[in-house]
Amino acid sequence: MIGPETAHTIIVRMLKLSRFIPFSKCVIRFLFSYHDKDLEREVFGIKFKNPVGFAAGFDKKGEITNELACFGFGFIEVGSVTPLPQPGNQGPRIFRLPLDMAMINHMGMNNPGAKILADNLSRHSQKRRLLVGGNISKNTNTINDLSPADYEQCFALIYEQVDYFAVNVSCPNVTNLTQLQDREILEQIIDRLINVRHSHDKYKPILLKLSPDLSYGQIDDIIDLIQAKGIDGIIAVNTTVTREGLKTTNEKVEAMGQGGLSGAPLTQLALDKVRYIHEKTEGKLSIIGVGGIMTPDDAVNMLKAGASLIQIYTGFIYNGPGFVKQILKQLKKQRITEN
Ligand SMILES: Cc1cc2nc3c(=O)[nH]c(=O)nc-3n(C[C@H](O)[C@H](O)[C@H](O)COP(=O)(O)O)c2cc1C
Repeated sequence: MIGPETAHTIIVRMLKLSRFIPFSKCVIRFLFSYHDKDLEREVFGIKFKNPVGFAAGFDKKGEITNELACFGFGFIEVGSVTPLPQPGNQGPRIFRLPLDMAMINHMGMNNPGAKILADNLSRHSQKRRLLVGGNISKNTNTINDLSPADYEQCFALIYEQVDYFAVNVSCPNVTNLTQLQDREILEQIIDRLINVRHSHDKYKPILLKLSPDLSYGQIDDIIDLIQAKGIDGIIAVNTTVTREGLKTTNEKVEAMGQGGLSGAPLTQLALDKVRYIHEKTEGKLSIIGVGGIMTPDDAVNMLKAGASLIQIYTGFIYNGPGFVKQILKQLKKQRITEN
C-alpha cells in the first residue's frame, strides 16, 4: 500500500496534470461544487462564498489553489511557509490511524520558502477562483528570540498575494514553536506584522492559529493580547500532542513517533476551545474552527459553537472529494447560515 505522503504527492501531480486536460476542471466542479447564496458570509471584512476552507499544510507551495477550488471550498490556507526553504523532518512522517479516523504527522514544516510561495500564487492569481489565506511561521533553525523577524519577512513577501494571514505559533513538530504563544514574544511578532501592514494600502486581516493543548488560562492571556492589539481573529486549533483514548495500539502509536495528531480524536477538544473563545469574547472575535471535522454534523456543531468559518484536512482525506459538498448541503438543510 502506498504511504500517505506518496499519496499526497500523486494527488498534487494529478491535479497539476489536469490543467492540460480540457474541461477536467469543469467536470470536477460539476461533480463536487455546491453553490447557494444562503451559504455566503462576510467575516473579518471578507466575503466568503461558503464557510468551508482547506486547512493549512496540504498546499504548502500554493501551486494547486485553482484546482482545489473545484472541490467546493470557500477558501484555502496555503503554507505554513518560512522565510527560507526547508526540507522538514526525515520520512516516513505522516501516518494514518484508520481505527481512530486520525493522522499523526511530524512533517517539520517542509516548504519551499515564502518567495517561491509568493511567485506560485502570483502566477495563478489571474485565474484564481477562491480566497487564499497565507499561513506563516519561522524557520526551524531560527531561535525563538529572533523569530519575529522571520514572521515579518514571510508576511511582507506574500502580502500582495493573500487575502488574510494565519500566524502559526502552534505547530507541535518544530521544537519550541508552541512557546511563541507566550505573551511577550507573541506581542513582538504581532507588533512587527501590524507595522508592515501600515505600509500597505490594502488591509489584510491577521489571525493567530492556536494549539489545542493550551490551558484555558493561556487562552485568556492570548485573548487579552489579541483584543489589545486589534488582531482580527483566532484559528482554533492545530494538531495535538496528546494521545488519549486512541483505539490504535500503543505500540503502533509509539512507532509513529512524536508529532501532531489530527482527525476524530480532536473533534471534542477543538469544539471545546472554540466554544470557550466564543463565549469569553462574547462573540465579538472571528473564529475559524478546525480540528476533527469528520462528518457534516461535526461542521454544524463547530459553527453552532461559535466559529464563523471552518476548515478541514483529515476529514477530507478520509471522506474523499465529495466531503465539502456533503457539508454544504447539510448546512443548507439545517439553515446554518450567516444570519
Ligand atoms: C499532514 C499535515 C500537515 C499539516 N501542516 C500544517 C502546517 O504546515 N501549518 C499549520 O498551521 N497546520 C498544519 N496542519 C494542521 C491542520 O491545518 C489542522 O489544523 C489540523 O490537522 C486539525 O484539523 P483536521 O483534524 O481537520 O486535520 C497539518 C496537518 C496535517 C495532517
